[in-house]
Amino acid sequence: MSSEETIAESGEYLMNTYGRYPIALARGKGCRVWDEDGKEYLDFITGIAVNNLGHCHPNIVRAVTGQCKTLMQVSNLFHVEKQAELARLLVENSFADKVFFCNSGTEANEGAIKLARKWGGANGGRYKIVHARDSFHGRTLGALSATNKKYQAGFKPLLPGFKAVPYGKIEPIEKALSDEKVCAVLLEPIQGENGVVIPYENYLRDVRRLTRKKKVLLMLDEIQVGMGRTGKLFAYEHYGIEPDIMTLAKALGGGIPCGAFLATDRVARHFTPGVHGTTLGGNPIAMSAGLAVIRTIMEDGLLDRAASSGAYFLERLAAIKEAHPGLVKDVRGKGLILGVEFKSPGIAKDAVSRAVGKGLLTILTEQRVMRLLPPLIAGEKEIDEAIEIIGETLGEAGNA
Ligand SMILES: Cc1ncc(COP(=O)(O)O)c(C=O)c1O
Repeated sequence: MSSEETIAESGEYLMNTYGRYPIALARGKGCRVWDEDGKEYLDFITGIAVNNLGHCHPNIVRAVTGQCKTLMQVSNLFHVEKQAELARLLVENSFADKVFFCNSGTEANEGAIKLARKWGGANGGRYKIVHARDSFHGRTLGALSATNKKYQAGFKPLLPGFKAVPYGKIEPIEKALSDEKVCAVLLEPIQGENGVVIPYENYLRDVRRLTRKKKVLLMLDEIQVGMGRTGKLFAYEHYGIEPDIMTLAKALGGGIPCGAFLATDRVARHFTPGVHGTTLGGNPIAMSAGLAVIRTIMEDGLLDRAASSGAYFLERLAAIKEAHPGLVKDVRGKGLILGVEFKSPGIAKDAVSRAVGKGLLTILTEQRVMRLLPPLIAGEKEIDEAIEIIGETLGEAGNA
């Protein structure tokens, strides 16, 4: 089919829940994708932080095709070697002692919320969760209850027991923790959907100190920033702290649906047979993909690469900001999650749509921010190409 035909058929048969680009993608390789008409794009959306190894990485393709020929699905009534192996690698490379696999980010947060409540129930009947007001934790009703209000409209009543506080400020958390019924604080180390919001350097350390003092759990949602995106395997490693629970998804499966929540033994032991489960979570295909992802990140030095490419990208974006002071308000990032904040939503929308037209895939976030999520394999060549396109779009906007 042509792009036009696919777009027409989508409009006819799919629920209208996405503001989609008028592009039908057909093929991907490394940092690039092609649409059905053969137009090439540099992909700095990466499925929204999913394709951290780029598209169709040979290690993932090999692992998944091999697994499909061996065993595609069994129930969690049985043990699966690849599931145990991926859990071991995650545990060996994190704070955690135990892992539960599921299928998506929102499902990981649902499970994490349930685990926190199970722990809280056994520790003084606590059930409330403190979260950041403008965060994004997912679309199912539990995760949605901890998410930015604008996504909640039309779906009330949500789950009770959630207390929203401003992100990046410690006093409101301190106040919220005076409620003895709070069992956990749930935060993103960097807010992706809210426009690449990076809190002050000691924020997580301050929150950790408070949660320890109040004997409350710290849950980190690393669904967008985990698996190497910030230049560390997990973003919390930048801040010298460890959470009690962490959620993962997106890049964990390298393009195959896969989510997980991880916890310390002290917390995880409150999950016993029958209290939580999933049919497809931990599926052998997803586990094989996950093993290929984590091994490739480690063996190919992609953490250092993400850190150095990210620093280079940020430096070049800072020069763009300097060249266009009337258009760009701020540039920020950590590793390969970066944002260019424009002075108005109109400028931002125009910049993103011109960039896409010129072959750079990027997303408009929170109306003013161009979010850039290159694959961890991107280097100076791809970043220079993106910078040239962004520079050109701003040159045109400045002259318009
Ligand atoms: C930080 C964060 N948490 C949770 C989610 C939800 O993940 P999923 O779309 O896989 O349910 C997202 C998705 O964008 C996210 O960025």
